[in-house]
Amino acid sequence: MAEQKTLLRALAGEKLDTPPVWMMRQAGRYLPEYRATRAQAGDFLSLCYNPDLAAEVTLQPIRRYGFDAAILFADILLVPQALGADLWFVTGEGPRLSTITDQAGFDALKGVDDIHETLSPIYETVKILSRELPQETTLIGFAGAPWTVATYMIAGRGTKDQGPAHALKDENRPVFEALLDRITAATIEYLAAQIDAGAEVVKIFDSWAGSLKGDDFTKYALEPAKQIIAALKARYPHIPVIAFPREAGDGYIGFAKATGADCVAIDNSVDSDWAAANVQVDGCVQGNLAPHHMVTGGQDLIDETRRIVKAFKNGPHIFNLGHGITPDADPENVHVMLEAIRG
Ligand code: CP3
Repeated sequence: MAEQKTLLRALAGEKLDTPPVWMMRQAGRYLPEYRATRAQAGDFLSLCYNPDLAAEVTLQPIRRYGFDAAILFADILLVPQALGADLWFVTGEGPRLSTITDQAGFDALKGVDDIHETLSPIYETVKILSRELPQETTLIGFAGAPWTVATYMIAGRGTKDQGPAHALKDENRPVFEALLDRITAATIEYLAAQIDAGAEVVKIFDSWAGSLKGDDFTKYALEPAKQIIAALKARYPHIPVIAFPREAGDGYIGFAKATGADCVAIDNSVDSDWAAANVQVDGCVQGNLAPHHMVTGGQDLIDETRRIVKAFKNGPHIFNLGHGITPDADPENVHVMLEAIRG
C-alpha cells in the first residue's frame, strides 16, 4: 500500500518527482515568531520544557512554509541534563555543562531509568504535535549521537576540535567508553519514548562525527548508531531512522547499510553528484544545500537548489540544508528555495 506522506514515501525508498523538504533548525531565531515565543517562555531551556510553547514553535515554520516534516523542538543536550549534568545556555555563546573528566564524574551520573523524570515534558510536546500537525506533515523526533553528546559532556561546552573528548578517549578509554555506553542506552530509551508518544521518524545527529578518523569512526560513530538503530528496529520495525554523521566524508559511503539507517543526511561539504553516486546507491539521502544561501539568497540560491534536486533526482531524496539554518537567514529566502524545489 502506498504511504501517503511524502517524507515517509521517500524514506521507504520511493523516488518522487518533487522531493519532500524540511530544514534543520527550521524553528529558530531567524523567525520573528520564534523569538517572540522564546521571550514568552523566558529562555531557551524553559521553552524546551514547556510542551505548549515547544509545540507552538514547532508548528510555526509549518504554518509559514508548509514543510513536509516538522521536527520536535528540543535539544540534544537535554539527555545529559536528564543524566544529571548541569546545563545552561549563555546568550550569544552557547551551551555550558558540568564536565566529566574521570571515573568519579561518570559515577555521579544517573541511570538510564531515571531520564524520563526530566524528559517527560518532551514526550508531552510530541503528543500535542501528533494531534495538531496537518495530516500530510511527518513528525520527526531526534536525539544527539553518543559521540557528539559526549563531546559536550566532557568539555562542558562546544569545542572547535573536540579536543577534551579526544583526550579522554586516548587517556582514559574505560571511562570514555562507559560514558558512550550510558548515552547510547539513554538515547535508545529517549527515542523509544518519543516514538511511543507519536514520533513517526527519528533522526540521530552526530554533528562532530567528522573529527573521528579510521577505527575511531567505526567504534564511536558507526557502532553506536548501529546499536541504537538495532534496538529501535527490534521494537519498532516500521519507524524509519535518519542518521547524520556530519562531515563524515568517505565515511558516508556504506553508512546506511552498516548501521541499518533508512536514510543518511549529508552535510554541504560533499558534492551532491558524488553523494548521488556513492551514498544514494544504498537508499534515501537527505541534504545538502549550504545554509549560507539562506542568508545571501538571489539567483545563486535558486541555481544551487535546482542543481541539488537534479543531482538526486534518480533516487529517493529528502531536500534539506547541509546544517542548520542560521539566525541571520532571511525568512523570505525560504520561500525562494521552496519555489525552486516545488514550483
Ligand atoms: O532543528 C530544529 O528546528 C529542532 C530543534 C533543534 C535544536 N537543536 C534547537 C536549538 C535540534 C534538532 C537541535 C540539535 C542540536 N543541538 C545539535 C545537533 C545539530 C547541529 O546543529 O549540529 C547540537 C550540536 C545542539 C547543541 C546546541 N544547542 C548548541 C551548540 C546550541 C548553541 C548554538 C546555537 O545555534 O545557538 C544550541 C541552542 C539551540 N538549539 C537553539 C535552537 C533553536 C538556539 C537557542 C536560542 O533560541 O537561543
